[in-house]
Amino acid sequence: MTESSPAPLNPDAWERRYQEGTTHWDLGQPAPALRALLESAAAPPAGTAIALGAGRGHDALLFAQRGFQVTAVDFAPSAMQILAQEAATLNLSLKLLERNIFDLVPEFTGQFNYVIEHTCFCAIDPALRPAYVQLVADLLAPQGELLAVFFTHNRPGGPPFGVTKAELQQLFAPYFDLLTLEPALVSVPSRQGEEHFGRFQRR
Ligand SMILES: C[S@@+](CC[C@H](N)C(=O)[O-])C[C@H]1O[C@@H](n2cnc3c(N)ncnc32)[C@H](O)[C@@H]1O
Repeated sequence: MTESSPAPLNPDAWERRYQEGTTHWDLGQPAPALRALLESAAAPPAGTAIALGAGRGHDALLFAQRGFQVTAVDFAPSAMQILAQEAATLNLSLKLLERNIFDLVPEFTGQFNYVIEHTCFCAIDPALRPAYVQLVADLLAPQGELLAVFFTHNRPGGPPFGVTKAELQQLFAPYFDLLTLEPALVSVPSRQGEEHFGRFQRR
């Protein structure tokens, strides 16, 4: 994703959405499926985590509150500023990177126990999906996990670009063991039946 990305996908377009307040994807809360994971018996132990396309950072803040050492990345400056203010208000320490996610390697190679994904995968050009999988594989330490909520709607076009379970299985199989990839048990009403929760372990 670069300055020359298709119009709705370039950094300026995303930044404009934050400045105009047209961030309809923003739930105003963490993804219910990620919250449910952290409250379940299967909750992963705290560790280093990176939230990709973090936006205002509801998910990043949730993980930080649960003791994870969180890095949040987004190339929209306004999103990172809002997240910085919220973290300060909550007295939470997060590392914030105003960066293109595709520029994180090699600097952050192998540095994370977890990658947190929620509405970043659906926001990138589908042609970049193999590069996204490679990125997640590179960011994770061995045995590290991708904790993800994928938008599996079947409407054409995007963003948000939908994906199928079969496509996800095929994309991630080369580097990951798929621990779980199932319809999300909890979603906000507007995304009911259109999300999959995935937990993939780096081989
Ligand atoms: C649909 S929003 C989701 C934001 C957040 N995850 C949420 O659920 O509210 C997608 C976010 O990804 C960011 N983004 C898209 N492509 C990116 C890229 N290549 N590098 C960094 N951030 C990116 C956008 O700026 C935007 O904040």
